[in-house]
Amino acid sequence: MLSSTYLPLLTLLPAFAAAANATYLTATAIVTNGQNHSALECWEFSTPLTVSSDAGTRGVSIFNFASVANAVYTVIPPRFNGGTHNAPHLQIVLFLSGLAHITLPERTSLNASHDEAWILGGADGLVLALDVAGTGHVTTYPSDEPTVSVQLPLAGSEGVPAHRVLGAGPCAGEGQVVGG
Ligand SMILES: *[C@@H]1O[C@H](CO)[C@@H](O)[C@H](O)[C@H]1NC(C)=O
Ligand SMILES: *[C@@H]1O[C@H](CO)[C@@H](O)[C@H](O)[C@H]1NC(C)=O
Repeated sequence: MLSSTYLPLLTLLPAFAAAANATYLTATAIVTNGQNHSALECWEFSTPLTVSSDAGTRGVSIFNFASVANAVYTVIPPRFNGGTHNAPHLQIVLFLSGLAHITLPERTSLNASHDEAWILGGADGLVLALDVAGTGHVTTYPSDEPTVSVQLPLAGSEGVPAHRVLGAGPCAGEGQVVGG
């Protein structure tokens, strides 16, 4: 299902939130805020999950990411420190295994828990890395196992899914300290 070169359609089900009649995907986004600082936000995509009519997944819930190209499969060794960096492109990152700890070099909120995210690889491992400008973020991978991710560059800002911001900081469940 995961192609190393092209992944327009996500049939995994990362963190999602149920509304009245529709189900919406949520994801932690790393953005550049109005002060030119990288900041974390919890996003809910405006388009609800739809139903696949494709052979093999007919009837299951899907979300279609537009304009994704040149996917990169990345194997990060245990206890790797990625340092302070900006997103190299507007991109979706799917963490498949391991653990990523994202922190910000600049305080963006009075609430310190808004300035860090713990992303566990797996079904909830969906992140949008969009801070191509600004102060950047620090990503470390503190687990004893490799962290495997797939980076999916967006072909421009029109590829960023329409969304509403649910709040400052990472989505629920990604702000608390897990492991060490
Ligand atoms: C800080 O943010 C977290 C996560 O959004 C929230 O659970 C907590 O209550 C907040 N703390 C304060 C003091 O507002
Ligand atoms: C935003 O920050 C980047 C990197 O720190 C810097 O190169 C750029 O000039 C800044 N832009 C503005 C409008 O301040």
